[in-house]
Amino acid sequence: MYGNDYGPDDAATRTETRDRLPRRDEPLNAADAAALEGYFDELIDADQRIEPRDAMPEAYRQTLIRMMAQHAHSEIIGMQPEGNWITRAPSLRRKAILMAKVQDEAGHGLYLYSAAETLGVTREELLDRLHTGRQKYSSIFNYPTLTWADVGAIGWLVDGAAIMNQVPLCRCSYGPYARAMVRVCKEESFHQRQGFEILWTLARGTEAQQEMAQDAVNRWWWPSLMMFGPPDTGEAATKGHTAQSMAWGIKRFSNDDLRQKFVDMTVPQAERIGLTLPDPDLRWNPERGHYDFGAVDWAEFKRVLSGDGPCNAARIEHRVRAHEEGAWVREAANAYVAKQADRAVVGAA
Ligand SMILES: [Fe+2]
Ligand SMILES: [Fe+2]
Repeated sequence: MYGNDYGPDDAATRTETRDRLPRRDEPLNAADAAALEGYFDELIDADQRIEPRDAMPEAYRQTLIRMMAQHAHSEIIGMQPEGNWITRAPSLRRKAILMAKVQDEAGHGLYLYSAAETLGVTREELLDRLHTGRQKYSSIFNYPTLTWADVGAIGWLVDGAAIMNQVPLCRCSYGPYARAMVRVCKEESFHQRQGFEILWTLARGTEAQQEMAQDAVNRWWWPSLMMFGPPDTGEAATKGHTAQSMAWGIKRFSNDDLRQKFVDMTVPQAERIGLTLPDPDLRWNPERGHYDFGAVDWAEFKRVLSGDGPCNAARIEHRVRAHEEGAWVREAANAYVAKQADRAVVGAA
């Protein structure tokens, strides 16, 4: 159920409350602020969706803008490492599949920038924050794609980790984000399967192909585990944004829980493919009912995130160049819309 769709008993009073509240862009007096907080909390407690028309705490709005923008940036920057292999895909079939996949990622970026715009920030501003380094994208895309097997490893591991993160976001408390995620997740599951199938095929190929597949998995495994973000349970539970985001119904699981789910899902798949995962500490723990795994190198994560990964500079340089070279397309699209609007006015006169 989406929106503030209460049952018949509650509907009248809740609508009244909402009508009394100022809109998001109107100034708040103290009474309004208290009513707003109560109404917002009621919606969150009832596991209802917050919609763009609803007033919301500024910190909630800013958290969502940050999350959704970084998610959108990751989708479009993520096109680069795989786009690198479109011209060198080993067959026409592989090329067509990869092109469709990379195009899907552009679409995911579009849904997410559009959803973020409902929070009162423009796409131009968000792209400017990306281009000037004021907002980040997933650190995984700062690693290079050295061989064709990397396309398989990205689909299987990186898109697999993305799905694990994104399926719970389909129940996120902010309606436009949740709805965008439903479609994104359907496409991500295709991405994961195409990656699995590439590695499956290579693992049944020549010795050189098997080695290439194993080498790609060795390089992408740890960065994939980093995709879930730093530890946020146990001693780390009070650090970072997780506790607040969970209280607001934006996040549904901790980074550590999602990472564990990903490991538990992926180990049996690796066994099926016939590849190993590069972690000597990886083993089933019957008492926990989960796989134990080794320590992630968080120093590397921080280094890559802060700009010192193998491809950070190249990714942003390419993005800015594509944006500048695409300016004429945006201008042409705007001119077309203006022309259509003029015609509609003339037609109506
Ligand atoms: Fe995506
Ligand atoms: Fe994807």
